[in-house]
Amino acid sequence: MSFVERYGPWAVVSGASEGTGRAFARKIASNGVPCILIARRTDPLASLAEVIRAESGLVCPTAAIDLTSPDAINQLVAAVGDREVGLFVSNAGADPNGMRFLDRDIDVWLEHVRRNVITTMSCCHHFAKLMRARRKGGLLLVNSGACYGGASFMAAYSASKAFTLNFGESLWAELRPHGVDVLNLVLGRTDTPAFRAVLAEKGLPVPPDLASPDDVAQIGLDRLPQGPIYNWGLADDVAGYAPTSAGIRRSRILAIDMATKQIYGD
Ligand SMILES: NC(=O)c1ccc[n+]([C@@H]2O[C@H](COP(=O)([O-])OP(=O)(O)OC[C@H]3O[C@@H](n4cnc5c(N)ncnc54)[C@H](OP(=O)(O)O)[C@@H]3O)[C@@H](O)[C@H]2O)c1
Repeated sequence: MSFVERYGPWAVVSGASEGTGRAFARKIASNGVPCILIARRTDPLASLAEVIRAESGLVCPTAAIDLTSPDAINQLVAAVGDREVGLFVSNAGADPNGMRFLDRDIDVWLEHVRRNVITTMSCCHHFAKLMRARRKGGLLLVNSGACYGGASFMAAYSASKAFTLNFGESLWAELRPHGVDVLNLVLGRTDTPAFRAVLAEKGLPVPPDLASPDDVAQIGLDRLPQGPIYNWGLADDVAGYAPTSAGIRRSRILAIDMATKQIYGD
């Protein structure tokens, strides 16, 4: 199948107004699939839609939605309307706080969990159900090396990313017989406005070795059919910042998948 057949006719990109989300939307459109662009700020979304129209000739609707909102999924479903979504990119997910767990109000962390866990899970449930019925489509979950373990300043962030890792692995196992691709795109430090803002706030220089959002988006789309994990910059059989390699995790999931199917049925 061509990209359009496999992941069209529409894509949804969360956190599309800048950084990796913006790069994903432009790359997806350059492959012939228009995107529904989601973020909180309307102006950057509108200007991205203009850029895509000029580059690809495609019209991308925009929707200003706060993904921490308890009814974000309903707003998102309303924004999509009756368009058929073949690709969902869950991109918004960084932690702008950079604080120890007890040094922020609990409401801050609850919002973080609502965006990264509740809304992401709700969106995947909604879109993947329709994809499974059509026997094609893709879920691309933008993740972080923080998914592999906790550390100071990362309690809610790394926990939410660990959720995404395990969630995405399970969905990969469940959906692969139905032709739906699932990928955890596990990133290292990437040159996004959000990350630059954190560095600036801490008075730190911009490191020279940041990944480029364009490269991240290209590799994410290239690797989408080979889930459940791609660790940025690493081959499948290299562990890197994970305790095990993507290849070993894939084999382990398939082995456990066979065992669980003997209990729960195929
Ligand atoms: N940058 C890195 O070094 C790095 C490293 C590892 C992993 N990652 C992962 O890469 C992804 C993108 O990261 P990023 O650095 O670009 O920062 P980010 O804050 O995750 O993404 C920025 C985008 O998300 C939108 N956004 C943020 N909060 C939102 C909310 N509550 N509702 C709706 N939209 C929201 C922003 O637009 P608005 O402000 O207009 O809402 C913007 O378009 C994340 O999943 C992150 O965990 C990044």
